[in-house]
Amino acid sequence: MKILVTGAKGYAASSIISTLAPEYDLILTSRSKGTFNQNIPIIPLDLTNSFATNSFLEENSPDIIIHTAAITLIDYAETHQDETQAINVKSVETLCQYCEKTATWLIHFSTDALFSGEHAPYSENDIPHPINYYGKSKLMGEQIIQNNQNFPFTICRPSVIYGWKATHHRGNLFYDFYSRLFAGEKVYASQIHYGNPTYLEDLGRCVYQIIKRKIHGILHTVGPVRMNKYEFALELASIFEFDPKLIQPIVHHPGKAPRPHDLALNYENSIQKLGIKMLSPREAFQVLYNSKLDA
Ligand SMILES: NC(=O)c1ccc[n+]([C@@H]2O[C@H](COP(=O)([O-])OP(=O)(O)OC[C@H]3O[C@@H](n4cnc5c(N)ncnc54)[C@H](OP(=O)(O)O)[C@@H]3O)[C@@H](O)[C@H]2O)c1
Repeated sequence: MKILVTGAKGYAASSIISTLAPEYDLILTSRSKGTFNQNIPIIPLDLTNSFATNSFLEENSPDIIIHTAAITLIDYAETHQDETQAINVKSVETLCQYCEKTATWLIHFSTDALFSGEHAPYSENDIPHPINYYGKSKLMGEQIIQNNQNFPFTICRPSVIYGWKATHHRGNLFYDFYSRLFAGEKVYASQIHYGNPTYLEDLGRCVYQIIKRKIHGILHTVGPVRMNKYEFALELASIFEFDPKLIQPIVHHPGKAPRPHDLALNYENSIQKLGIKMLSPREAFQVLYNSKLDA
């Protein structure tokens, strides 16, 4: 079975690719060229170019497309809306047209940021009301898929993905806090922004099960614990034995775009379908701590 993974240089894709690579024939693309773990080529493909994308799809005819590519920086999306629209919305339309023509299965990565944060926890079928452009663009992407009933699709909604830093990628909540605390620097962490932080390696396992069990529809692929960023930092400090006094609670977010306050997601139905256990931050930090000792 041939599986195309877009956004192959991205953070979520790093775990998806390493989980699927031993069993499946993977075709990896990203905006820029590269290699995954020095052995699988990453082919450059700008998904905002629908002509190039269509030719690529015709040439490679994947059985499944896992679409992770997106502009994911919330403040950048707010100030670069046309660029964000082109990848977060238009590319989905192009992929959908191909999937419709060929009945190809689309596994699409969406987000918890579709919701306003005022009525958490949210279930898979709750009506989204995004409050920033990133969330709006991701919702438009989802709607294109959901309005099109002519091919199989799965929509995964993760939340704040964390783990060790992956190659090619910027930091993440765990890695940023870890690096500062390790250097003895202060960490400022919001006490008013809640979500279900999602351990990177669990996402790869989710996608593996989606394919094995042929699960379609919307899935909340998130960690099992609702917590704010301050609690997340304290939990990290306790496992890694950092000084908790370095962690300062704050009650705002320094970014330009508005942030929903509570993005907790109901996940029980989705995780039951997947048949896996998602790790809590405490459990994941212990795994990360042990892997550091083994390294
Ligand atoms: N990270 C999170 O905490 C989080 C939380 C919830 C949902 N999500 C969703 O999960 C998915 C993956 O997120 P991520 O954080 O792993 O993403 P990421 O690390 O920011 O990577 C984004 C990927 O998209 C590619 N890309 C951007 N513009 C492109 C274009 N025009 N054509 C082709 N590729 C393009 C980038 O390619 P280059 O690197 O080559 O430029 C990169 O490989 C996204 O759909 C995101 O909305 C992420």
